[in-house]
Amino acid sequence: MTQSIVRYTLRGLAAGALLLAQLPAAAQARREYLLTNDWKFAKGDVPGAAQPDFQDAKWQTVSIPHDWAIYGPFSSTNDLQKVKIEQNNEAQATTKAGRTGGLPFIGTGWYRRPLAVPGFGPGKRAVLVFDGAMSDAHVFINGKEVGRWPYGYNTFHFDITPFLQASGPNTLAVRLENQPEASRWYPGAGLYRNVHLLVTDDVHIPVWGTYLTTPEISASAATVKLKTKVEMPGGKAAGLRLETEIRDAAGKVIAKASTPLPAGAQEFEQNLTVPKPRLWSPETPVLYSASSKLFAGDVLKDEYTTPFGIRSFKFESGKGFSLNGQPRKFRGVCNHHDLGPLGAAVNTAALRRQLTLLKDLGADAIRTTHNMPAPELVQLCDEMGFMVIVESFDEWKKAKVKNGYSQYFDQWAEKDLVNMVHRDRNHPSVVLWSIGNEVPDQWAPGGVAIAKQLQDIVHREDPTRPVTAGMDQFDAAVGNGFAALLDVPGFNYKPHRYPEAHAKLPQGMLMGSETASTVSSRGVYKFPVEKGKDKKYPDNQSSSYDVEYCNWSQTPDEEFAAQDDLSYTMGEFVWTGFDYLGEPTPYDEKWPSHSSYFGIMDLAGIPKDRFYLYRSRWNTAAPTLHLLPHWTWPGREGQTTPVFCYTSYPEAELFVNGKSQGRQRKATTGTNLQARYRLMWNEVKYAPGSIKVVAYDAQGKAVATEEIKTAGKPHHIKLTADRTKLTADGQDLAFVTARVEDAQGNLCPDAGNELEFAVSGAGRFRAVANGDATNLQLFHEPHMKAFQGMLVALVQTTDKAGPVQLKATGKGLKEATVQLKSESAAKPR
Ligand code: GAL
Repeated sequence: MTQSIVRYTLRGLAAGALLLAQLPAAAQARREYLLTNDWKFAKGDVPGAAQPDFQDAKWQTVSIPHDWAIYGPFSSTNDLQKVKIEQNNEAQATTKAGRTGGLPFIGTGWYRRPLAVPGFGPGKRAVLVFDGAMSDAHVFINGKEVGRWPYGYNTFHFDITPFLQASGPNTLAVRLENQPEASRWYPGAGLYRNVHLLVTDDVHIPVWGTYLTTPEISASAATVKLKTKVEMPGGKAAGLRLETEIRDAAGKVIAKASTPLPAGAQEFEQNLTVPKPRLWSPETPVLYSASSKLFAGDVLKDEYTTPFGIRSFKFESGKGFSLNGQPRKFRGVCNHHDLGPLGAAVNTAALRRQLTLLKDLGADAIRTTHNMPAPELVQLCDEMGFMVIVESFDEWKKAKVKNGYSQYFDQWAEKDLVNMVHRDRNHPSVVLWSIGNEVPDQWAPGGVAIAKQLQDIVHREDPTRPVTAGMDQFDAAVGNGFAALLDVPGFNYKPHRYPEAHAKLPQGMLMGSETASTVSSRGVYKFPVEKGKDKKYPDNQSSSYDVEYCNWSQTPDEEFAAQDDLSYTMGEFVWTGFDYLGEPTPYDEKWPSHSSYFGIMDLAGIPKDRFYLYRSRWNTAAPTLHLLPHWTWPGREGQTTPVFCYTSYPEAELFVNGKSQGRQRKATTGTNLQARYRLMWNEVKYAPGSIKVVAYDAQGKAVATEEIKTAGKPHHIKLTADRTKLTADGQDLAFVTARVEDAQGNLCPDAGNELEFAVSGAGRFRAVANGDATNLQLFHEPHMKAFQGMLVALVQTTDKAGPVQLKATGKGLKEATVQLKSESAAKPR
């Protein structure tokens, strides 16, 4: 929770008294504890597991975030689904083996831990906040059920005050259950996000108790309107006052207000002025914070911090989207929540690495498909500069999967939307709320009324942001009023129908809420190079020439052209930024495929060729010049082997072994859309040696070159860490890319050597991934085959500082080591 004032990691009950003694002497009005360690976990339903005297000594000790299923093993029988996927235009039901990742997430799991509640007693309150629990959480304190929350992606909180024994001991137990056929992708399993314990006075600011907006912004000043709820026993308390200070990014106080609570009110309203505001944008993610102190007379009752940014945006008919008055189009990606080899277990370093890669891509927006994101992601988007569509649901009343959200919709949809909006409505990064993705209610009777009901709920909770939804059923949604109702119409895979949508809809603008769904496997190239849909090969891989897609989707170029040619389009959200577990289209029916092929980056986060196609268009700060395929094709001598160049430059000349293959220039018009966005030499004959491009700028000046050489035999391993300085907090990660290279340092592009990893010093081996959607090796074991010459190993810190070393070995290869440094975590304020 970003609002917390003090954060501690709370270890078990036995340490409770000790822990109290370690707390700062000054009285704290509010304390927040992250319940990370000392959890006991058991898979299966265990009678009596909620009871305080239950013996859990034999259970596994885990720390959370924890995904119980990511440790495998993979099996085609895990959540085997025999289904007809209607939204994929399937005519009959077939067996889908890896649809949800082939991992053992189905069933029940229990978590237990002793719960020390420091400072708890008369006049205090304690609240548990679950950032997400997969799924159908039942939470117990001392054997009594405190509450339930079915939807695994949402954040929820329970007041546990009446359930606690002030003198202790107290026991927290959580029962989770995942049903089969409940998802279209890998959901993860367990307490996969953080759990927080908040201890406050009984006169306090509740969870998500502030709502901060910036209704007026000019160059000289911005108005900050801060509404702060207060809860008090019996709804009454005398002499309450809220003192708020606004700080700039450097921590300097730039505005102040002190406001008494009007008689009978339950909410403060403060209007403050920030002089000469620095505006938040993806390029300038400037943050401020509002720190509030709640007093009863002279007694400090609570403290609450609301980080925020100052920015304005508009979605306007005929003009499209603008941020801070500047028109722009979304350069967005859709992402599922899993973090590849970490599964669903949230990790800030892993999220930050994803966003770092997306920054280099030139992306400026993320759609959190098809559910509420981890709070850490939204916070990072504020800090690093990404605009976010926070999405809620993949289905409403009408089901896509047998046991999906539709069973909860009537009872829970409003509660889920309210929590979503309340949690995230102070974030400057969030610019749109999405009420759903490709819901079958688009065409079902009553669907339009549901859309209105959901949109109204969101408007009620946050009138400052518009509502969208991802629509795939074009004729139904445009014909029945569904699309016309939404504040912002979002279309999935419909660039060819944008003109029609624009003509028929009243909004005067639209966006590509989901685009492309091009499939490719990193470093794999198929011949002949032919554009086509639903292509399948015996090795369960897709071609990295980026010409293969699904029967409902396109190559990137179709969407690019629509975005470039149609002024009312507001940008796109590509499916997907990263490969994810589950949905292995086009191999849904062909085990062992169990992760996606859609990503611009693979499951290990390694860029595919497509990364450079998007980068050449989106990253306007740095040039892109990328050649494909690799140039090591023994046996293809003399055969046609097309060469593509993805570049931000308008023109380039290709040389094969020094011989010019001619100069190519990007087309500016024409029906061959690929020719507008890629330079392609389609008739090149393979000969070992090298391919080289020389790029020319708009003035015709040769400005950059790129060369790929034919590789020799695998010779050594090369390791490169994304970061070498880590934090000794037991969570931080380094992502180390391993390449199998020949003696000259060329990537061996089809090397599949098994690599072994050993970590020494103040770190531990965490996981490994190679991006091969068919690989059944387990992520947490310290060895894996390279895929197309590469993989990524994850090294995690412990809570001890010191040097860390990762060593990689492989049969017949010269080994490599990389040195990392884990440094003490900064003390909590
Ligand atoms: C869309 C859907 C996504 C994913 C994608 C694959 O229709 O919204 O969740 O299934 O297709 O192309």
